[in-house]
Amino acid sequence: MTQQWWKSSVIYQIYPKSFKASGDTPTGDLQGIISKLDYLQKLGVDVLWLTPVYTSPQRDNGYDISDYYSIDPSYGTMADMQELLAQAHSRGLKVIMDIVVNHTSTEHQWFQEALRDRNSPFYDYYIWKDGVNGNPPTNWLSKFGGNSWQFAPETGQHYLHLFDVTQADLNWENRQLRNEIYSMMRWWLDLGVDGFRLDVINLISKEQTFLDDTLDTATADGRKYYTDGPKIHDYLKEMSREVFSRKTGIITVGEMSSTSIANCIRYTNPAEHELDMVFSFHHLKVDYADGNKWSIMHYDFLQLKKIISDWQLQMQDGDGWNALFWSNHDQPRALSRFGDDKNYPYQSATMLATALHCMRGTPYIYQGEEIGMTNPQFSNLEDYRDVESINAYNLMSSEWGYSHTQAMEILAQKSRDNARTPMQWDDSQHAGFTNGTPWIKAADNYQQINVASALADSNSIFYYYQSLIQLRKKYQIIADGEIRFYQLKHSQLLVYSRHIQSEILLVVCNFSAENCELELSSLDLALTQAPKVMLSNDSNNMITQEVVQLAPFGCMVIHSI
Ligand code: GLC
Repeated sequence: MTQQWWKSSVIYQIYPKSFKASGDTPTGDLQGIISKLDYLQKLGVDVLWLTPVYTSPQRDNGYDISDYYSIDPSYGTMADMQELLAQAHSRGLKVIMDIVVNHTSTEHQWFQEALRDRNSPFYDYYIWKDGVNGNPPTNWLSKFGGNSWQFAPETGQHYLHLFDVTQADLNWENRQLRNEIYSMMRWWLDLGVDGFRLDVINLISKEQTFLDDTLDTATADGRKYYTDGPKIHDYLKEMSREVFSRKTGIITVGEMSSTSIANCIRYTNPAEHELDMVFSFHHLKVDYADGNKWSIMHYDFLQLKKIISDWQLQMQDGDGWNALFWSNHDQPRALSRFGDDKNYPYQSATMLATALHCMRGTPYIYQGEEIGMTNPQFSNLEDYRDVESINAYNLMSSEWGYSHTQAMEILAQKSRDNARTPMQWDDSQHAGFTNGTPWIKAADNYQQINVASALADSNSIFYYYQSLIQLRKKYQIIADGEIRFYQLKHSQLLVYSRHIQSEILLVVCNFSAENCELELSSLDLALTQAPKVMLSNDSNNMITQEVVQLAPFGCMVIHSI
């Protein structure tokens, strides 16, 4: 195995709560995942990322961990976890765990000890401050709404929670806490996991001044005091020494909130010994009006291209590495967001996949993306489950004065629950996800869009994904080639090329519902006389010596040797 084997790998994200229930429970479980490993192997992915399955009160669906060393009973047991690892490994699949170490649940024993006794060593595992003249210690806002400090009468101080009030931020300044985290991570590696996805990891180092922010824009909410904070690179280097260096063949990916390219180069340049790759989110804020997620806006395509090309080119220059993704459990479905899920579902889904999978970085598929799952368009507030969405609804209706209809339209476009509806396995009740009643409703379109029908149709989105995954393994140029961008001002097309010496891969994607043409002479590329079409998603797409013509949401990958 080469050191950077993950450059030619594809990773599949499983949201266990919504993936597959093995019986009649409302939520998915580990046995459910085991029962679908053959499916994932058929798709051809290399690594599975499980979002948190540790014991948790589930206020934030497991991102509020109360015990890092046990499996939440709703998902099964540690024996099920071991079986999952063994079964995945026997199929050549690796498994990475989601590690949440910016915060724990307030039900975690450390926090409970802290509440019980201010002199306990666990008190300093969290971030406590006195209020100021009856106000919280700073005006920083929680990512889930409201002030980010909570007064605890038991201790007479406020604790910091950048997320929900039940997710208390850990104090990384405390060495003993850091050591506890590292030994817990080593424990998971010893159990057999193949690496980690590190939740909001660039928030762990807080500036110790604890000053107010201005609150005069959507992002002046305190984040500059803890995002990519003063000791973040030291902590990651320490974690790499103490944990990652203990096992070969593992993979680490950091989730980086509101980060910068310069920092992401440092996080992922191999010479820095921090992480293998990073998720960043700027490209998914192109439909936030004035930086506000809770707004209706059609995404800005030129801005999307600018962000993608800046990240791709600068990470390449700095020898960094991107995790490539359109979707995850926190984002609406990409097909509904950037494509046309009604008129061109196949073309939109396959074009988006192509645009992503041929770039420089390691692609991630979010469960259901490979069959073209869409936003569910919930029309009742009662259908939503997500703490962030419910807080946002309350904020929109009580503080911003939005009508119920307006707030519901915004949730239908932006809620994280858009991605959390049950995986659509077949056309039976609840999409074949559970024999009981699911914890969240399945999208109404499950009778048409489901795995069983995708597998039965050789022209389905599923099989297109399968080919894309194979191409990355077969052609070194997709994994390693240099990337260049063209036509950044074009209002419909995303155009880029990959290069290894004189070999060229040209990728042309139409992000619009209109036919579109690209003159090859505009690219200044030395293509051979008859370049080969490696992939095309519509029989009306064409290439001649002069032009590429694309159908609505069409795309082509052209190979010239
Ligand atoms: C990350 C997770 C998200 C969670 C948050 C707090 O952004 O992806 O689901 O709510 O961190 O842990």
